[in-house]
Amino acid sequence: MTAPVEALLVVEDLRLAFGGVKAVDGLGFRVMDGDILSVIGPNGAGKTSAFNCISGFYKPTGGRITFLGQNVTGMRPSAMAARGISRTFQNLRLFGDLTVLDNVRAGMHLVIDQRFFDAILRTPRYRRGEDEATEKAHYWLDFVGVTANRGAQARNLPYGEQRRVEIARALARGPRLLLLDEPAAGLNHTEKNQLLGLLRCIGDLGIAVVLIEHDMGLVMEVSHRVVVLNFGREIAAGSPAEVRRDPAVVEAYLGAEEAS
Ligand SMILES: Nc1ncnc2c1ncn2[C@@H]1O[C@H](COP(=O)(O)OP(=O)(O)OP(=O)(O)O)[C@@H](O)[C@H]1O
Ligand SMILES: [Mg+2]
Repeated sequence: MTAPVEALLVVEDLRLAFGGVKAVDGLGFRVMDGDILSVIGPNGAGKTSAFNCISGFYKPTGGRITFLGQNVTGMRPSAMAARGISRTFQNLRLFGDLTVLDNVRAGMHLVIDQRFFDAILRTPRYRRGEDEATEKAHYWLDFVGVTANRGAQARNLPYGEQRRVEIARALARGPRLLLLDEPAAGLNHTEKNQLLGLLRCIGDLGIAVVLIEHDMGLVMEVSHRVVVLNFGREIAAGSPAEVRRDPAVVEAYLGAEEAS
């Protein structure tokens, strides 16, 4: 008998309200180990709000989030990150004045054990920690294919490279689950193809990926499964081919187009 496959992330009846606006309204889905799952839906459907709950940036008003079998509902971002949930943002959140390398290292300081007195006194243990962080930062920048000068200020990098630095920063935390909010936004055709390759490489490492994305070409190409949101809840789910021909999905997108 094979052991039951345990879900990495279980989201149940998730709710988030801003005053009268129900941004997330009873959302449920599961992410299995090794999944590449896309979350799609019209603007304002609640995709980013759901990410904000799962990564701890917003406290849900209802429902339950279980990660690696533990109830993590309402935990803070640092606690979520320490448990293995890393994310990127719809609007880039790099520290523009810091170097590329330091941006990636900054992500790791949340998870590397930096004892206060070691840091103040710059003990050998502190320096070893710093060296390790630098080495890891270079490793992940190589992995995502950032070729630009790593000593340059992040703000001076072309936009596509900044996006990859953000992914490197999230990976450097050693996540089991990576949440990417519209990673293809603003990328050109070549950069989108590179991103597709990168997502597959991340999947090959055994890191589960949940992707919010409007680029349907990328979604259809890379996803194992797709969840479709509208008005804060799931309206369809399945393989890319299944959701593409789902009448509720066609309706949601055509409706959105007619309204705009
Ligand atoms: N901080 C906030 N305060 C008030 N309302 C918010 C806040 N964040 C999101 N909302 C509202 O919640 C709803 C869902 O927004 P959300 O940003 O999650 O959508 P989305 O699916 O990510 O959309 P997009 O594709 O445009 O990024 C929208 O009606 C939005 O206006
Ligand atoms: Mg969004």
